[in-house]
Amino acid sequence: MDSDRILIRRAAPLHGEVVVPGAKNSVLKLMAATLLADGVYRLSNVPAIVDVTIMSDLLEAIGVSTTFNDDGSITMTNRGNIVPVAPYELVERIRASINVLGPLLGRCGHVKLSLPGGDDFGSRPIDMHLKGLEAIGATFEMRHGYVEARADRLHGTDITLEFPSVGATENILTAAVHAKGTTVIDNAAREPEIADLCAMLTSMGADIEGAGSSTLVVHGVEPGSLHAADHPVVTDRIQAATYLAAVAVSGGEVVLRGARAEHMDMLLRRFADMGVTVTSTGDGLAVFADGRLRSIDVATLPYPGIATDYKPLIVTMLSVADGVGIVTENLYPGRFRYVEELQRLGADIRTDGHHAVVRGVPRLSGAPVRAPDIRAGAALVVAGLAAEGETVVSGVHHVDRGYDDLVGRLVGIGADIERV
Ligand code: EPU
Repeated sequence: MDSDRILIRRAAPLHGEVVVPGAKNSVLKLMAATLLADGVYRLSNVPAIVDVTIMSDLLEAIGVSTTFNDDGSITMTNRGNIVPVAPYELVERIRASINVLGPLLGRCGHVKLSLPGGDDFGSRPIDMHLKGLEAIGATFEMRHGYVEARADRLHGTDITLEFPSVGATENILTAAVHAKGTTVIDNAAREPEIADLCAMLTSMGADIEGAGSSTLVVHGVEPGSLHAADHPVVTDRIQAATYLAAVAVSGGEVVLRGARAEHMDMLLRRFADMGVTVTSTGDGLAVFADGRLRSIDVATLPYPGIATDYKPLIVTMLSVADGVGIVTENLYPGRFRYVEELQRLGADIRTDGHHAVVRGVPRLSGAPVRAPDIRAGAALVVAGLAAEGETVVSGVHHVDRGYDDLVGRLVGIGADIERV
């Protein structure tokens, strides 16, 4: 609920274990992929987040139903009666609604989709999605806020993306599985969530080479030859990083069960530079922090670089670190809005264009703050753990979109935090 707030008091060192949930930015795309073939799908390790509910509403309107099971899995049923129209009221609620475009285009040959809007951190164009889909035979018309796409039969070709866009890679990939011939996507995004999507598409009968690399080769299959599949959602590296950051600013020793070190390699190295010790436990990570963090300079980049979604957490850690850190945002120039909120907590941060200079202070001081988006909201909660007195975070509905019981999980490792 919009009126909900999270109340945080400075934490003693954190101890215990957190089970890291599945990734929002994977599950939403896997759900959209169920449009590709009739049948009953079971996705497990699904995070209990609001965006999953919103995506299920959108897919229900198009023709795929979702049942939420007690074991944290969802069952999705595609009976083949697909209406390839994504209306404004549903699309505007969630950016990932754009991911229905590729599957619907390949399967139905036409789609009418409300244009997705921007985010609080800036405009988010879809020109690369459209250009890539055009290259494999789609045509587009923009009318009354809708994009109408058509394609008699998509055909494979070579596409080089100007930039490794996550969404564009996913849309071209999910359209190309039904194209005639081979599509090569060069400079593809290689986030673990895209490799996860490739894995599910492959179990559905798609023929994809190069999953997880920057060249994806998709050999198209005949429409009608894909089938439903069961798939576990990859663990969320951003939620995992949030608990790492919580321990980093509070001190303590916590095991993150399910966290995948190989998906967070660059981040873990930079956390080590800041003085956080992270070791692999076989089925997760053990994190240990003690004493003041050291400042570092960081620039965000597409995977395997430091993700833009980690940045609010890093800025929060730098706010209480020893020294000065320069943070450069290379993906969304406007993604520094939460800085004003951190300043309310006593952080010493100056922004200039896409740079932020963070001078660490020994202690933050609690205050009321507002979450402007999902990741910034989680970072403000982490900041509250490092602040004297009480911090009250409002705008919690943003956090609920991407975090599965952030408060409960932090309580489980000893944080003084509650939802009010
Ligand atoms: N871009 C274009 N044209 C396009 C597509 C992208 O100019 O056609 C630009 C964007 O404006 C942006 C950059 O390219 O500056 C990166 O965009 P990308 O397409 O890679 O991102 P996305 O698919 O829209 C996903 C995540 C974001 C995450 C980014 C970057 C989902 C639903 N969203 O967005 O996650 O920040 O990749 O890693 O997967 C979040 O979870 O809070 C979130 C915002």
